[in-house]
Amino acid sequence: MTDPLATALTRRLGCRLPVIQTAMGWVATPELVAATSNAGAFGFLACAVMSPAQAAEELARLRDLTPHDFGVNFHSFQPGAAQIVDLILANKDRVRAVSFGRGPDAGMIGRFRDAGILCIPTVGAVKHAEKMVSLGCEMVTVQGGEGGGHTGSVPTTVLLPQVLDAVDVPVVAAGGFGDGRGLAAALAFGAVGMAMGTRFLMTAESPVPPAPKAAYVKAGVTDIAVSTKVDGIPQRMILNPLLRRIESSGRLAMWQRAMEAGLAMKRQTGMSWGQVIATARGMTAHGEMPLAQAMMAAAAPMMIQRAVVSGDAENGLMATGVVAGRLRDLPTCTDLLQSIETEARSHIAALCAGS
Ligand SMILES: Cc1cc2nc3c(=O)[nH]c(=O)nc-3n(C[C@H](O)[C@H](O)[C@H](O)COP(=O)(O)O)c2cc1C
Repeated sequence: MTDPLATALTRRLGCRLPVIQTAMGWVATPELVAATSNAGAFGFLACAVMSPAQAAEELARLRDLTPHDFGVNFHSFQPGAAQIVDLILANKDRVRAVSFGRGPDAGMIGRFRDAGILCIPTVGAVKHAEKMVSLGCEMVTVQGGEGGGHTGSVPTTVLLPQVLDAVDVPVVAAGGFGDGRGLAAALAFGAVGMAMGTRFLMTAESPVPPAPKAAYVKAGVTDIAVSTKVDGIPQRMILNPLLRRIESSGRLAMWQRAMEAGLAMKRQTGMSWGQVIATARGMTAHGEMPLAQAMMAAAAPMMIQRAVVSGDAENGLMATGVVAGRLRDLPTCTDLLQSIETEARSHIAALCAGS
């Protein structure tokens, strides 16, 4: 019998297990990517929150930390995106795949294809999956509504079969996965593997400091909520004191927080008030957000960094998938992936044996 865990994902990405560690801003660092890749999964470095200079440094560090190939995540609208794309292409001997949300056009996707780099966009809707494939992407990750960070409302169990029916490229399942049962289920649906963010954030090698890590472990499913008040786009986070304040605030408090956020951004970046307002206005140019919300959106990365980098679990924001509500441990990546492999194999064997 062929190995059920050898799929198009393991063949195309050159990893042992059909498991992807997704990109997470400030969390998917070279250390975490190396740990997941060395343990048999395929890791993505989170460059969407980096400047080109930082990305170059982190890529060089990652190259030294693992002999395995890896992926890079970026957004085509981030500052310095063109330089990051050039950087990825210059590292094509080790970068096997890129992931992104909306953005890259057929020309950019073609450049990656020509360099032998697989484009695996993360999609949250059937239409988006079809569009990405029509632009030349050769694999897609489907993130159902259970997923962490910015997220949609259609659950993985509904969106995954919809996308599998709609496109003719290999599909990776994401959103709510955390163990070997999930991997067996993803393969049973017809996906070529599963991708996980939150589960890898909750590992020993994840760089998140102890206090927020403890908050992720402690959170039950009812301690996690989707908010649109942070940056105007639905984002799932741990319901901590800061998110509660944001959720219950009215217009005046929203302006107050926007001013605080703007002031913090000004201090951290050295921008003038004019530049802070221009950044915020840049986000409102698309027309959907009032200025106070845009100022919050421009400052949202700092609120997230305050928790996942500086360790303030009360006054920073912690993006998460709902799966954190049932995870109670912080295993090493090796232990996690070993248990995923054992569990997936035993569930698949039991199904095949009809027991
Ligand atoms: C803390 C956190 C940060 C994230 N940052 C990014 C990011 O920078 N780029 C991106 O494409 N997706 C980002 N995501 C989404 C994940 O890559 C992934 O699609 C999602 O976590 C999958 O759902 P799961 O958490 O249920 O496994 C983030 C998710 C989390 C939890």
